[in-house]
Amino acid sequence: MENIISLKDIVVEFDGEKILKEISLDIKDKEFVTLLGPSGCGKTTTLRVIGGFITPKSGEVIFEGENINSLPSHKRSVNTVFQRYALFPHLNVFENIAFGLRIKNVPKAEISKRVGEMLELVNLSGYERRNVARLSGGQQQRVAIARALINRPKVLLLDEPLGALDLKLRKGMQRELRRIQQQLELTFVYVTHDQEEALTMSDTVVVMNGGKISQIGSPTDIYNEPVDAFVADFIGDSNIVDGIMARDCFVEFAGRGIECVDKGFAPNEPVDVVLRPEDIKIVSTDEGQLTGIVKTVVFKGVHYEMIVDGGEYQWIIHSTKHEPVGTQVSMRIEPSDIHIMKKTKEI
Ligand SMILES: Nc1ncnc2c1ncn2[C@@H]1O[C@H](COP(=O)(O)OP(=O)(O)OP(=O)(O)O)[C@@H](O)[C@H]1O
Ligand SMILES: [Mg+2]
Repeated sequence: MENIISLKDIVVEFDGEKILKEISLDIKDKEFVTLLGPSGCGKTTTLRVIGGFITPKSGEVIFEGENINSLPSHKRSVNTVFQRYALFPHLNVFENIAFGLRIKNVPKAEISKRVGEMLELVNLSGYERRNVARLSGGQQQRVAIARALINRPKVLLLDEPLGALDLKLRKGMQRELRRIQQQLELTFVYVTHDQEEALTMSDTVVVMNGGKISQIGSPTDIYNEPVDAFVADFIGDSNIVDGIMARDCFVEFAGRGIECVDKGFAPNEPVDVVLRPEDIKIVSTDEGQLTGIVKTVVFKGVHYEMIVDGGEYQWIIHSTKHEPVGTQVSMRIEPSDIHIMKKTKEI
């Protein structure tokens, strides 16, 4: 697959402060890419650079092989769906969707046909004459998507488009968006700070932190092989503790030396040790590597979440079985489930 968009060393400054710090990113044609990161990390700013609403201080925006830094927003084959849908309240559903074609003086018959196709795509056939202000949140979002797609952009930018919907509606719309993206074979660049949403919807996840990209990878790569403690912590509730890499494949943490599979660190290099809650197993005393006392047990629907007080650290454990509060338990982690991270550099 070809790259449809490349960002090369993009720098954006506001009031003398660097908001994007040399960001580089390749987006392939027909790919569903998600920018994921905490509030203020620069996700919306990155979308606005792609959309042409912000001119970067330096760096290049490449679209299908050509530099488009100075191409105005309306000439880019890109459209945006915002979190607040920004529908025209005085226009009905049909006219909201038709708007982009009307201003281009597309013939009436063609407009009718294309609006009809869009309504079908977003499952709103029959809603043409409805007042948009009286639609539900999910229906309004469908109108916003139809309106953004009617000009047939090659790339759709979506900035937290489901943020205003409740959880159940959001799940349904996640599936709808994925279907629309695949059916139309479009490139989607999607912004969210919800890690589960990013992992379930995307081909590629771009984790951002403080105006930089921390990691780019498939959802499984990001989950299983986070590059640093920030990514590990942001993707799921990890246990992250200080460790010392005594030698290859042997790490010391929580007062114990434990086998792992990581190599290539300096002898006695300080590291972050990342343990997923589902990878800490409760075992019999003779198999245990660590011990602690169960402090809390919460049923999470599919698994139990236990907090085990190990003295120096409180361990979060996810398991389908649980031990009663107050029990002393032994814990074990398989070597391949121990993730060793270089200490995150201060930004
Ligand atoms: N027009 C602007 N002028 C000055 N500062 C800005 C402007 N736009 C954004 N910023 C700052 O740039 C940083 C990144 O903002 P951005 O909107 O890209 O973050 P975000 O990742 O989209 O966050 P959120 O998840 O809260 O939407 C923030 O610190 C923000 O305050
Ligand atoms: Mg934002």
